[in-house]
Amino acid sequence: MDLEAFRWLLTDDGQELLAVAARDLEGAGDDSLAAVERLRRTASAEHAAAALTQATLRVRGRAKFGDLADRMYFTPDGLEQATRLRVAEHRAARLVASSARTVLDLGCGIGGDLIAAARAGLVGAGVDLDPVRVAVAQANLAALGLPGAVSVADATTLDTTPFDVAFADPARRSARGRTFDVDDWTPPWSFVEGLLTRDSCVKVAPGIPHELVPAGVEAEWVSDHGEVKEAALWSGRLATTERRATVIGEGGLATLTDEDGPAAGEAGGQVRAVGGYLYEPDGAVIRAGLVTAVAAGVQGGLVDEHIAYVTSDQAFRTPFARGYTVLEELPYREKALRAALRERGVGRLTIKKRGVDVVPEQLRKRLDLHGEQDATIVLTRVAGHGTTLLVRPF
Ligand SMILES: C[S@@+](CC[C@H](N)C(=O)[O-])C[C@H]1O[C@@H](n2cnc3c(N)ncnc32)[C@H](O)[C@@H]1O
Repeated sequence: MDLEAFRWLLTDDGQELLAVAARDLEGAGDDSLAAVERLRRTASAEHAAAALTQATLRVRGRAKFGDLADRMYFTPDGLEQATRLRVAEHRAARLVASSARTVLDLGCGIGGDLIAAARAGLVGAGVDLDPVRVAVAQANLAALGLPGAVSVADATTLDTTPFDVAFADPARRSARGRTFDVDDWTPPWSFVEGLLTRDSCVKVAPGIPHELVPAGVEAEWVSDHGEVKEAALWSGRLATTERRATVIGEGGLATLTDEDGPAAGEAGGQVRAVGGYLYEPDGAVIRAGLVTAVAAGVQGGLVDEHIAYVTSDQAFRTPFARGYTVLEELPYREKALRAALRERGVGRLTIKKRGVDVVPEQLRKRLDLHGEQDATIVLTRVAGHGTTLLVRPF
């Protein structure tokens, strides 16, 4: 979508066509071709395409922005790169809690983070190199009745000092696709390093190597409903610990830091025998290297020094891990395992695995299951040996 087509969409005629496109799309179900045909009878091909694309993106945008998406504007890439509202709201809440009042978003895209900052009461300004995204971010603030200024500028040339906090979410996609090399980010890592010498927050890929995080900077991994979405680096007065895992779920938000880890000699850090309960830590916890903090929290230990399963003799509900009751140990060898599952009438099997070379789908086929029972098995290494545990989630 070019700037002209987007500006037209904001006119009265554009808004009318967008409303028609949205209605057509809702009514059309899967038949979006029919919706296109109907729109084309009343508008130019370009305007019809702009309206229909926008209506389609609004539907897709609900996964990230909930009901707000129906009033927002997107570009396909801008939506894909945008921070989901729940995660952006958490970031904005942290900024507010730090008593920051003003934030400069250096590469604001369609405004995912800017919107959350404005909703949290921060005075936000955003810049982006891409004029279409700037127009979209401006339109989003206006559509949601939020204050904030957005303009076209190169983030790397700006003086950020007038703002309490600088925020950046560098694009991690180049013309060749997704990039894992931090020097290929735009703006690049050298810019990020510079920002991290002041009060700032930088959103980065969850796979960021720990050794890249500068000393004194906090790295926070955030998951939303079990999926790790991002890491954020917090510097200056915004850094409150070294590593943090923040887990957003049905019950709200919970956070674990390296300070929750076991002290030397305390339960949590050691490998121990499998107890009555097994815990599978959330991905954010694993990325943050805080598995032993979960072990300490459930008064347990690790099943293996290098494997992210925790075991304990006690059942705890924790937002940081999924818990299972260990029912029994089953044979690890495939033939004997097949016989054991047959004996128990297992017809549907969930296979969890960690630290062993197994492809669950292939194994499930080879196990040739028959029976009425549902079951879950965990394949892992315990004290260096391949082990199968029959478990029940709680
Ligand atoms: C990952 S997106 C930001 C998404 C945004 N946080 C959101 O939630 O919608 C990164 C943005 O940085 C912009 N960008 C990259 N280099 C830039 C630069 N030097 N100056 C300004 N913007 C830049 C890109 O155009 C892109 O829109």
